[in-house]
Amino acid sequence: MRPLRGSCRGRVSALRLLLLPALLCALHAPLARAACVEVDSDTEAVAGEGFKLGCISCKMRGEVPASATVDWYFRSKGESEFVHIYNYEDETPTIMDDRFDDRLDWNGSKKTTDLQDGSIYILNVTYNDTGTYRCFFNRILTFPYYEFHTNATKHITINVVAKATRGMASILSEVMMYVSIIGLQVWLVVEMVYCYRKIAAAGEEALRESAAEYLAIASESKDNCAGVQVAE
Ligand SMILES: *[C@@H]1O[C@H](CO)[C@@H](O)[C@H](O)[C@H]1NC(C)=O
Ligand SMILES: *[C@@H]1O[C@H](CO)[C@@H](O)[C@H](O)[C@H]1NC(C)=O
Ligand SMILES: *[C@@H]1O[C@H](CO)[C@@H](O)[C@H](O)[C@H]1NC(C)=O
Ligand SMILES: *[C@@H]1O[C@H](CO)[C@@H](O)[C@H](O)[C@H]1NC(C)=O
Repeated sequence: MRPLRGSCRGRVSALRLLLLPALLCALHAPLARAACVEVDSDTEAVAGEGFKLGCISCKMRGEVPASATVDWYFRSKGESEFVHIYNYEDETPTIMDDRFDDRLDWNGSKKTTDLQDGSIYILNVTYNDTGTYRCFFNRILTFPYYEFHTNATKHITINVVAKATRGMASILSEVMMYVSIIGLQVWLVVEMVYCYRKIAAAGEEALRESAAEYLAIASESKDNCAGVQVAE
């Protein structure tokens, strides 16, 4: 009876280990959004598709009014110098390099000069877009009696990869993964219910057993006593 209890407990805690992260994720998801959070950009672009070059620079003090301009620079793979490719100022975007003509769209803060998100979007990514991008924020904080200049620079190195074409095998293996995950969860739940029942039953049985054992020992010792008395 004892070993069975141990293995049941092991299975139940394995179930908890699987469920706990899922639960934590579910709790975390609806948080955030409101405040400015500096999220790192993606770094892998797919050739022929669009790509968002993320660049967020939060104001140290959100309540202070400010205005900012954003500039983007690009150093393609193999080159040594950054080239100015994009400027965003007074809600007006300007593409400064013909390699990016008609291919850059503003994806940052909208309808404000108080920019905190300076992201841009590259349309139709080509392999020539591989390289390092530099995003530069120039910000003026307006205090009652003076202005304060700050700036921030971020570098993003992107890698352009071929279009991810998914074969039948890949789709099939993903389906199999879900099937096996669900199967495993169901099995664990069934096992858990079975284990709790078994433990409950074992508990009662153990009570009865120990009572019987007690009686047996009691009568055995009586027999022994009788034996000893006879030997004397
Ligand atoms: C970024 O710009 C592209 C192209 O204009 C657009 O399709 C996409 O929805 C924009 N994304 C965001 C988050 O603004
Ligand atoms: C992207 O490239 C395709 C094919 O080269 C072209 O048809 C399409 O117009 C391009 N889109 C943009 C926004 O340049
Ligand atoms: C990429 O760069 C090479 C060399 O500068 C040029 O010949 C080619 O046309 C470029 N490709 C695209 C899609 O711009
Ligand atoms: C950016 O800020 C640093 C220090 O705050 C300053 O030394 C530098 O000159 C500034 N750069 C520009 C281009 O304003």
